[in-house]
Amino acid sequence: MGNMLDDQGLDLLFRKARTHNGWAADAQVSDAQLHAIYDIVKCGPTSANCSPARILFLKTAAAKERLRPALSEGNLAKTMAAPVCAIIAYDIEFYEHLPMLFPHDLTAKTWFNWSAAHAETTAFRNGTLQGAYLMLAARAVGLDIGAMSGFDNAAVDKEFFPDGKVKSNFLCNIGRGDESQIFARHPKFSFDEVCKIL
Ligand SMILES: Cc1cc2nc3c(=O)[nH]c(=O)nc-3n(C[C@H](O)[C@H](O)[C@H](O)COP(=O)(O)O)c2cc1C
Repeated sequence: MGNMLDDQGLDLLFRKARTHNGWAADAQVSDAQLHAIYDIVKCGPTSANCSPARILFLKTAAAKERLRPALSEGNLAKTMAAPVCAIIAYDIEFYEHLPMLFPHDLTAKTWFNWSAAHAETTAFRNGTLQGAYLMLAARAVGLDIGAMSGFDNAAVDKEFFPDGKVKSNFLCNIGRGDESQIFARHPKFSFDEVCKIL
């Protein structure tokens, strides 16, 4: 058997990791930590290495104020209080970068640019995966996260991505969580309820 993450690592990434709704008052996230997170995210697999995620890390009060009008009521206070809110977005013209990202086959661009719908599906799929890598990467560097889809995507796109080539997917607060504000662990499906081995 190859290497395996130990119990501490599995707990940190998954088993004891929770969605956070509140943030330690003194918590800060450094730019170096955000770079460290991205340097992990970029290693995660995407189809043809297309890497469509585009990430805005909103850290300043001014940047978060621009997000405020798009947030749902339930996500407002915790997002404004979080040290960082990441907008995980995707570039619908990601294929323009394939000659750099996938140089061993320079026809790769043509696999995606023949249909806007196909390109967008690919960008959304892989951008979502990269968003998941980001959540795990943040946990891996010792931070906590709270992902959110409760916001007005069109309003975020208008405010942050006005050229229409990048679309928001979901938001992710990042910081050091306040354990007193997490919900009780929700039930999870067992293997037999949702998996089959054929
Ligand atoms: C893509 C995504 C969107 C989510 N949207 C919201 C949201 O808008 N507001 C919220 O409070 N929680 C949101 N959550 C958190 C989930 O409700 C939470 O992950 C789930 O209930 C499981 O809880 P746990 O992560 O603590 O195990 C979201 C999670 C994900 C992954």
